[in-house]
Amino acid sequence: MNSNSSSQTKPPSREGFSTNLGVIAATLGSAVGLGNIWKFPYMTGENGGAAFIFVYLICVFLCGLPVMISELIIGRTTHANAVGAFKKLAPKQPWYMIGVSGALCAFLIMAYYSCVSGWVFSYIFKAASGALTTTDPTKTTEVFTQATSTIWSPLFWQWLILFLTGSIIVMGVSKGIERITKTLMPILFVLLLICDIRALTLPGASEGLKFLFNPDFSKITGGVILAALGLSFFKLSVGMGTMTTYGSYFRDDQNIPSTAFKVMISDTVVSMMAGMAIFPAVFAYGVKADVGPSLLFITIPTVFSSMPLGTFFMILFFLLSSLATVGAMISLIEVPVAYLSEELKLTRTKAAILTVVAIALVGSTATLSSSVLKDTLIAGRNFFDTYSFLTDNILMPVGGLFITIFIAWKWGKENILEKGSNYGQLDNTSLLTNFYHIVKFVTPIAIILVLLSGFGVF
Ligand code: TRP
Repeated sequence: MNSNSSSQTKPPSREGFSTNLGVIAATLGSAVGLGNIWKFPYMTGENGGAAFIFVYLICVFLCGLPVMISELIIGRTTHANAVGAFKKLAPKQPWYMIGVSGALCAFLIMAYYSCVSGWVFSYIFKAASGALTTTDPTKTTEVFTQATSTIWSPLFWQWLILFLTGSIIVMGVSKGIERITKTLMPILFVLLLICDIRALTLPGASEGLKFLFNPDFSKITGGVILAALGLSFFKLSVGMGTMTTYGSYFRDDQNIPSTAFKVMISDTVVSMMAGMAIFPAVFAYGVKADVGPSLLFITIPTVFSSMPLGTFFMILFFLLSSLATVGAMISLIEVPVAYLSEELKLTRTKAAILTVVAIALVGSTATLSSSVLKDTLIAGRNFFDTYSFLTDNILMPVGGLFITIFIAWKWGKENILEKGSNYGQLDNTSLLTNFYHIVKFVTPIAIILVLLSGFGVF
């Protein structure tokens, strides 16, 4: 019981989530976001539908979920930020670099995430103005080009969103993060349900369901598996310190494996619900599903415009998408903020201002990748694509790899059984033993294989 006694000392002033429901809302709020409504549908559309979803689910079970549980346990045990957690568990050893790379990763994700979130917010108003009510894709392409390739309008939206989420962070962990996500999640769910009912009652909706549920495995390649792995990390907000940071706000009696499982299932349900709002309609109107990232911005409006009461549902859809991005962005900003305020002893407000301003600066390069910085390429990719590529394909999988190596090989089974069961309070030894074997062998090997094959080594 007394190994790592330092890990049990908890500074009394540290704030945390106050209720079980609040924990779930905040954690799910982090998981649910553009990943469900933008990435999951367009990647599913590009990579052949159900077969991709099948591979994605395997990645979630073998990689995303185990890394999530690992991070939550590490965070809750240490009650420290992503860097401090590793410093506490392995003092004077370089493991804390996992946290440093995580904070950097949070930054790079936010740089492009806040840009896309800005587009989504601006689309609520574009939808309401009627500018998107057209079944002609050249018209919606024009609106999208105009929304993204001018200079000030996309920057305005990006900075506004950063300001809003920064303000929630300043309000604190319980009064800000927990309170806001507890309000947003149910609204989001209801709005999505309304859009689902609309799409599923369209004549010809069944083709879309077939696309989502009837797999064609010939579409699966090494690249597709790497994409699914990247998505499983991105979706569950793991591999870079968000879950370590949120775990540090968990109460000591929180059942971590069960919380993680509930969040994973709910998040997958939201992704499938987004898929069911989109693909039945896409197929009902004979539109192409494999258009990539522009699916949400160019295809969806034409599809909604084709259906009865389309403008109304389009506004709802962009509204719910916008709300979904908020909880995710808060959780990304919280990683550097917790680090700065605890390791460098800045006040929470100062740390939030510093983080938001820095993200606004770096993020502007992502936003301007559609206009003035279009031709500024790093290894063939513009800034936007570089941030997304680096984080999805390298930083998060590698971060996840080191987290599993740390928890299984360095920290070890005894610690996992002790801390994962709340010091014997929970009766989950066999579950944790299985978890231990998975994070020790299956997850790291899967990540290494997928990384190698994604980079064409075999
Ligand atoms: N999971 C969120 C989504 O699906 C995005 C997100 C929030 C995230 N925090 C993260 C992704 C941390 C990676 C790491 O939109």
